[in-house]
Amino acid sequence: MERRSFIKRSLAVGGAALLARPASAFGAGEPAAQEPTHTPALAFTGARFPESFLWGTATAAHQVEGAWKDDGKGESIWDRWGHSPGRIAGGANADTACDQYHRFKDDIEIMKRLNLKSYRFSVSWPRVLPTGTGAVNAKGLDYYSRLTDALLEAGIRPFCTIYHWDLPQALEEKGGWPNRDLAGHFADYAALLAKHLGDRITVWAPFNMPETFTYYGYGNGRFPPGRANTDDYLRALHTVALAQGLAYRSIKAASSKATVGSAYGMEPAFPRTQSDADREAARRFHELHNTLFLNATLTGRYPDVFAGPIPYEAMGFRSGDEAVLKCPLDWVGVHYYLRLAIAAATEPPKPRGGGQTPDPMSQFHIGLFNEGPKNDAGWEMWPQGLSYLVTQVSKLTGNLPIEITETGSVFADGPGADGAVHDKRRIAFYRDHLAELARAIQAGVNVRSYHAWSLLDNFEWNDGYTRRFGLTWVDFASQERKIKDSGLWYGRVAAANRVDV
Ligand code: NOJ
Repeated sequence: MERRSFIKRSLAVGGAALLARPASAFGAGEPAAQEPTHTPALAFTGARFPESFLWGTATAAHQVEGAWKDDGKGESIWDRWGHSPGRIAGGANADTACDQYHRFKDDIEIMKRLNLKSYRFSVSWPRVLPTGTGAVNAKGLDYYSRLTDALLEAGIRPFCTIYHWDLPQALEEKGGWPNRDLAGHFADYAALLAKHLGDRITVWAPFNMPETFTYYGYGNGRFPPGRANTDDYLRALHTVALAQGLAYRSIKAASSKATVGSAYGMEPAFPRTQSDADREAARRFHELHNTLFLNATLTGRYPDVFAGPIPYEAMGFRSGDEAVLKCPLDWVGVHYYLRLAIAAATEPPKPRGGGQTPDPMSQFHIGLFNEGPKNDAGWEMWPQGLSYLVTQVSKLTGNLPIEITETGSVFADGPGADGAVHDKRRIAFYRDHLAELARAIQAGVNVRSYHAWSLLDNFEWNDGYTRRFGLTWVDFASQERKIKDSGLWYGRVAAANRVDV
């Protein structure tokens, strides 16, 4: 029987696989029974994508815009974090990032050149509402209006993420996401955007990866505001789930054309061994990390996968909240980066930060697989995970339309002697993932778009500028952009609607 190896390691924080913990290597384990089996992806490279399929890229305001205090923008928690010593690799911050605030027209030219038809960007809450509530910063709102118009003019669908982690610092000072009032403030902010941009934007994702910014911001403190307190995390989780429900309604009330989903980061979770304990741990991890927010929205309920009874009291759950949580999403956004190996923790779950409620994540040991080829961040590439995930999501949601909101990989390649960026490994990465996606679509899964992460090399959170995810190489000193070979290849795929180009 083939032996399977795993590694359990600390991943410098990025957007994906954020949860694996520091430790030494796992030994080999038994093959995970839940893994999908099928013919190799490459057999599907000739497959066509549907006529109406939307090829796109994704970015986030804090990672690309820069202009951190231009034209009346307020401070965000990530601005504060980046200006605090020791938080970001290389002492970097996102004050300038890719300067997209001033260069969005150039970036749209790149999208046009790559034949793209969808751009997933996020709005910076403090750019529009400098203190999170109250007075609107007209210049900030106007920026997103101009961006939207320019995209439409280029034949590109504007896909708006309302919150991609850059909370106004002023709202953190009012308690941040653990403060239930933020659900209402967020719904007002979402309605403001829908009112001003909803005549032109029809696709709205209130949140990007709610599972990550709640746990990383409040549960383990690796992201701003840097709190490691289980009670804060549980309250933040519930506020964000309520905010999704309230925003769903406020967006629709402000714009009759709006469709609402959200973008969930999902990592297929397999048991590290075939023991009952590890199998149960993998199931619980999946329902806690991958689908908790989605299920809360679809059903109005939380899954029974916490370390102990569902901690309603610690969350601040009130009667009637079920009805707020529940709303019929129009579509679902899925990000996929890698798979995880889950083992049951050997020690009883413990609270963090002095409360009584155990940290639900402390039920698990989380590791990476160590089998396939790796990217330059050490993440194993496993393209089959994409077809596996969308198939699971489709079953869970009754075949709701799926938007692939992110998939991408880290490769350091820069310009060679000829001036071009020959990033062959990124081409192979996308080709294999897209072949897997084509397989799922052929089998009946309703996937309507694919957004590569990312259009540009950009600011990768705590990793600063050390991890390049872009289809376009960026010189962060001069802001020169150079489309990589992978970008040119992706452009051909978008034009031909197939991957064997
Ligand atoms: C997901 C996050 O949404 C994005 O912000 C991040 O840069 C990527 N993953 C890569 O880690």
